[in-house]
Amino acid sequence: MSALNLFAHQRAGSDSHRRSARARGTAAALCASIMKGIPEVLTTHRLQLRRPRITDAEDVFAYASDIDVTHFMDWPNHKTMSTVVDWLSACTSLWESGAEFTWLITPRYEERVIGAISLRVVEYKADFGYVLNRQFWGRGLGTEAASAIVDLAASVDGVYRVWATCDIENVASARVLEKVGLVREGILRRWARRPNISSVPRDALVYGKVIRDA
Ligand SMILES: CC(C)(COP(=O)(O)OP(=O)(O)OC[C@H]1O[C@@H](n2cnc3c(N)ncnc32)[C@H](O)[C@@H]1OP(=O)(O)O)[C@@H](O)C(=O)NCCC(=O)NCCS
Repeated sequence: MSALNLFAHQRAGSDSHRRSARARGTAAALCASIMKGIPEVLTTHRLQLRRPRITDAEDVFAYASDIDVTHFMDWPNHKTMSTVVDWLSACTSLWESGAEFTWLITPRYEERVIGAISLRVVEYKADFGYVLNRQFWGRGLGTEAASAIVDLAASVDGVYRVWATCDIENVASARVLEKVGLVREGILRRWARRPNISSVPRDALVYGKVIRDA
């Protein structure tokens, strides 16, 4: 299980078997060039974004087990520390493979983890997702972290589009996406399951920002 789980299940492992060696070479080169542009630490005015460590499990559990925080997420609320530890390990492999980059969010001069943000770059498109401990909502911190990731995504070679989705009723997240300069493009009908709400796929808002027009 992934604490963000935005991307982890969308890796088509079998695709690689179908690709030609040449296509695999191109993909590997692309991946290497993307990874060159991805820093392990990002600093904003009030925050530090850094790679996860297993020792962060307790802080991650604090928000990932909070039903108010996980309400709109597409992963089930965490019930045990061991699923958080599994997710922290998965973050490492996903990062190393270039499939998904997750940073944990801490206040700039503190060790305590207060959230997470993930970025995935697929060819010319980059999407992202975020979550914050409820104690830290409403101070502009979600926007500050998301803004840093949008800037980073926009700076990655070959990225033309940065995008994100959120549940149709997730007003706070939609507002964050607007504040970081993404434009509401529409509604994706029955786009995502939100297991903490129901097993029926729900509509989502899709937001995007075009980085390069040509
Ligand atoms: C989404 C989330 C990261 C936002 O973090 P945050 O630090 O509180 O966000 P910010 O303070 O930067 O901005 C929130 C904006 O939403 C607005 N907002 C929050 N709740 C709102 C509500 N119920 N109705 C209307 N606006 C609301 C705030 O007023 C603010 O906008 P403003 O600056 O124009 O006033 C946080 O709410 C969270 O972790 N939610 C649970 C996880 C989640 O839903 N993640 C997104 C998955 S797509």
